[in-house]
Amino acid sequence: MRILGIESSCDETAAAVVADGATILSSVVASQVDIHRKYGGVVPELASREHLRQIVPVVREAVLQADIALRDIDAVGVTQGPGLVGSLLVGLTYGKVLALALGKPLIGVNHLEGHVHAVLLEAHAGGRAPKLPAMCLIVSGGHTLLYRVEAKSNASGNGALQLSYSRVGGTRDDAAGEAYDKVARMLALGYPGGPIIDKLAVHGNPSAVRFNEPKMGGNQYDFSFSGIKTAVLYYLRKRPELQPEIDAREQALARGERNADALRVLSSATTLDLVASFQHAVVEGLIRRTLAAAEQFGAASVLVSGGVAANRELRTRFEEESRKYGLETFFPSRALSTDNAAMIAAAAYPRLVAGERADASLNAQPNFPLGKVVESLELKV
Ligand code: KG4
Ligand code: ZN
Repeated sequence: MRILGIESSCDETAAAVVADGATILSSVVASQVDIHRKYGGVVPELASREHLRQIVPVVREAVLQADIALRDIDAVGVTQGPGLVGSLLVGLTYGKVLALALGKPLIGVNHLEGHVHAVLLEAHAGGRAPKLPAMCLIVSGGHTLLYRVEAKSNASGNGALQLSYSRVGGTRDDAAGEAYDKVARMLALGYPGGPIIDKLAVHGNPSAVRFNEPKMGGNQYDFSFSGIKTAVLYYLRKRPELQPEIDAREQALARGERNADALRVLSSATTLDLVASFQHAVVEGLIRRTLAAAEQFGAASVLVSGGVAANRELRTRFEEESRKYGLETFFPSRALSTDNAAMIAAAAYPRLVAGERADASLNAQPNFPLGKVVESLELKV
């Protein structure tokens, strides 16, 4: 079963061919990061316009790299949501028309379910299937969510793992990746902020600046990142002496000098300490809540996916800490951490096998929820 996956929910136009939900035959991603860089974030109108330019060549390239013809595809899986409506519509409409023209089944895929499958895809390829139920942290520029993932009890379909999802927690304000991007912007470290802060943080002292844990009532597995962003802003306001180096980095970025070494040379120890402390606070907060939820909801393993899952400190610290709980943590490769279409094709596979079919009425769902919410979860005793 070869599924063509199409993804266009945010600022990456992606297409991939995946066999049996497990073997990646091709995965093509056209990133728009150069277009959105000068605005310091994704501009929805520009994103949809760029998807329109890219969708046809990207799909063609994915089919070419898979060394097949379009008619050899068994189904089309396309991201239905959540995401930017104008962006979603481009991939969705193209996928729909393609499936209709080829006379192949069409499957609408939840982008978040795709992120879960990004981890499973590679874990299976490596012969290490994560034990279920798992606690899955999806952490990107658009999402910070915790899901309990388990095998469906009433699964139909042979051989394909059918999963069900329960939402355990999520961010109340910014996503973690968004906090990375905003802090990087304040410090003139370029866009996207995550990869550069990842590289600079190792040169600073992570305990130099103390950030308070966000105090929130209600669900203890919710996240909040707007407080730490504001704390960084106030920290900088109190230190006008840092302004000249911020200006110098701004000029370096304007000249196109974006690599970590170039920016590090223009950064004082105070700035590197701030960056390291920010990352430390974000990483420890993510890990603490995820592992507490894993324990509470009886998870047998931990999955971490989304753009921020590429972070090196997050990976090492997650592995160290989860071991203490006797849990193994699984991450996708860096390429599958950020948005891609292989994860969409992989998520479409069990649905295809179970007989799920979308028709021409399939529409974009910008706020598409995944699974049920925590209230209906049975707690581990
Ligand atoms: O999953 P993704 O490509 O797109 C969204 O769905 O948002 O994630 C992009 C986000 C950005 O906020 C970026 O700063 C962050 O992931 N990111 C990282 C790293 N690489 C990307 N954050 C921390 N460390 C990284 N190495
Ligand atoms: Zn995503």
